[in-house]
Amino acid sequence: MNPWSIRLAERRDVGELLVIEEAQFPEPWTKGMLLDEISNAASRRYTVAVEQGKVVGYLGVMFVLDELHVNTIGTLPGHEGRGIATSLMDEAWADARERGIRRATLEVAVSNTRAQQLYYRYGFRPVGVRKNYYERTHEDALVLWADVEAKGEVPAGS
Ligand SMILES: CC(C)(COP(=O)(O)OP(=O)(O)OC[C@H]1O[C@@H](n2cnc3c(N)ncnc32)[C@H](O)[C@@H]1OP(=O)(O)O)[C@@H](O)C(=O)NCCC(=O)NCCS
Repeated sequence: MNPWSIRLAERRDVGELLVIEEAQFPEPWTKGMLLDEISNAASRRYTVAVEQGKVVGYLGVMFVLDELHVNTIGTLPGHEGRGIATSLMDEAWADARERGIRRATLEVAVSNTRAQQLYYRYGFRPVGVRKNYYERTHEDALVLWADVEAKGEVPAGS
């Protein structure tokens, strides 16, 4: 069993999310942006992985009709490679299936192969490129789509 548990994010988590955001992203979201996202329960679902009272990872998704958009995912520096992002994605996938979500999409920087490996394990595949997607780095983004229902058919380790 994992030494962390997953729960819905709350406004009081925003300081800890900001620490991860600023450490992990070249264009970090602001406190205000994160608070808006966490508070928008109608179309957003933010979850956190908490270990010994500390937020060690988070995932934010957005629902558009029967589609899920992965808005953000991050693991606290020093805690990568422990399966934290995977367990957040597993929990979100189970929730999405219960909601009848069929497809999922996201954008990921072309150079971010670490995140791409994670996404490919959930059946995401590239369908296009958004040129110059990131304002600060000017990097292109891959547009990925996945069939949420199909994830169980992906062989373990692929
Ligand atoms: C991408 C990111 C979220 C992955 O988080 P993570 O918690 O390290 O992910 P996981 O540990 O679940 O999985 C990563 C790898 O560790 C491996 N792993 C899982 N549990 C492990 C364990 N106990 N020991 C060693 N490795 C493990 C997984 O097999 C996986 O391998 P893969 O790279 O071949 O897919 C994290 O690196 C991050 O925060 N990056 C910066 C932000 C970012 O780029 N976000 C995505 C934007 S689109």
